[in-house]
Amino acid sequence: MKGKRTFTMIKPDAVSKGYTAPILKKIADAGFKITALKMTQMTRSDAEKFYEIHKGKPFFDELVEFMSSGPIVAAVLEKENAVEDFRTLIGSTNPAEAAEGTIRKLYAESVGKNAIHGSDSDENAEKEIAFHFAGREIFDR
Ligand code: RTP
Ligand code: MG
Repeated sequence: MKGKRTFTMIKPDAVSKGYTAPILKKIADAGFKITALKMTQMTRSDAEKFYEIHKGKPFFDELVEFMSSGPIVAAVLEKENAVEDFRTLIGSTNPAEAAEGTIRKLYAESVGKNAIHGSDSDENAEKEIAFHFAGREIFDR
């Protein structure tokens, strides 16, 4: 499975603004198969664990607060070269620097409220998938 899977979350800002369906369509149109999907809300403790790697950074508390502030949509995506291609599709962390046509350019409002998450390595993708979907069925179409 190496290199073929990534993990995404549509973040609380985008979900609350009604961008879930347009973002999922953009993901599908870019050739990603959705092999697991759920709407959920992370607790503060979930968000602290998920973003553990950023602990100690100046934006950590704001990030944890925001990511647990409302519903998110979590998904497993499958495609060749999934991690890198998905990072290209979502665009730069700061939407002001994101390329035209990217999900963050279209739907994000700020560095903090930036609409969507994408795993940054194969290893982290597998960890993040396990975090959100451990013990649940992932469909292999
Ligand atoms: P993500 O993990 O959410 O896909 O975002 P990313 O890889 O593009 O960026 P990363 O460096 O992993 O940062 C995680 C999230 O923290 C927030 N952040 N805020 N205020 C700031 O300077 C700042 N820097 C990062 C963003 O919401 C970013 O997505
Ligand atoms: Mg990241």
